[in-house]
Amino acid sequence: MAPKRITIVEVGPRDGLQNERALVSTADKIAFVNLLSAAHLPVIEVSAFVSPKWVPQMADAAGVFAGITRPAGTRYTALVPNLAGLDRALASGVTEIAVFASSTETFSRKNINQSIDESLATYRQVCGRALAAGLRVRGYLSTAFGCPFEGDVAPARVADVAVRLAELGVFEVAISDTIGVAHPGQVSRVLDAVLAQLPAERIALHFHDTRGTALANVLAALPYGIATFDASAGGLGGCPYAPGAAGNLATDDLIYMLSGMGIETGVSLTKLSEASAFIGSKIDHPLPSKYAQAAASKKS
Ligand code: HMG
Ligand code: MG
Repeated sequence: MAPKRITIVEVGPRDGLQNERALVSTADKIAFVNLLSAAHLPVIEVSAFVSPKWVPQMADAAGVFAGITRPAGTRYTALVPNLAGLDRALASGVTEIAVFASSTETFSRKNINQSIDESLATYRQVCGRALAAGLRVRGYLSTAFGCPFEGDVAPARVADVAVRLAELGVFEVAISDTIGVAHPGQVSRVLDAVLAQLPAERIALHFHDTRGTALANVLAALPYGIATFDASAGGLGGCPYAPGAAGNLATDDLIYMLSGMGIETGVSLTKLSEASAFIGSKIDHPLPSKYAQAAASKKS
């Protein structure tokens, strides 16, 4: 049965802004996160403590964490690729992190310069230290529905790496459609394989919307009892190491659909659209006008 309440993980400040050509200032990122907090997003992925040489857009992770207000009721998280990243996250007072592995070897190499086995060995160290320090750790599993370099990915392979990630102690594995090619039939096949090994409570789904199938994919996943979905305000997003990756599923559209179905998220769509319109005005290309409507109508 479909869950009555869904947790939305807002990834716009990280997955969205990591892929923007124009650098958004630290002050604007802080204002964006604070607007998302005001919309009552339950989880906000604020930034990434990755190498600034690899992703310059996230170089100011510490500055963003230092500037945001963190009201109780929202969890603030960040990507961490290695122990150096964990040290930086701990110094910023971060209480939740996410490690990120891949279902395919080529993407793993391109994204983090390690094979899947090497990355899981790194994450074993990161998780060990983070869990001992009392942090919550999430695990992403990229290219679960297709790889920009290797093409199709067998669901059994996805389930295999998901289990290996789960064994590291992550509270949740976010099965991710890095390049936005998933469709509902494939969602069913991947979930059949993954849920044969892990309970639905430990699975989240992370869709990009290249093909316009992200909302349909959520609909396909609800009957499986999946209750956590990632999305980004205004549909910002992509991955600098995944050619062709488009924006994430738009948080705005996800809330609209779920609320119409009587499924609660606890997020204010009006407040969220203020955040979407704000960040839309700080990047060098327009977001679709539907994401700026609430704020625009306020101005007039
Ligand atoms: P590397 O070059 O193999 O590692 O990168 P290294 O240890 O040789 O480090 C290179 C330099 O970076 C060194 O500096 C390190 O000190 C520094 P130098 O000595 O040359 O001056 N460095 C760091 N600095 C700050 N923080 C750190 C850090 N680590 C090293 N944590 C590495 C390996 C993993 C570091 C690199 O490949 C990396 O940072 N990759 C991250 C790429 C990334 O962020 N991709 C996007 C996020 S994943 C994604 O979008 C998918 C997702 O949305 C789900 C989905 O949709 O599929 C999550
Ligand atoms: Mg992503």
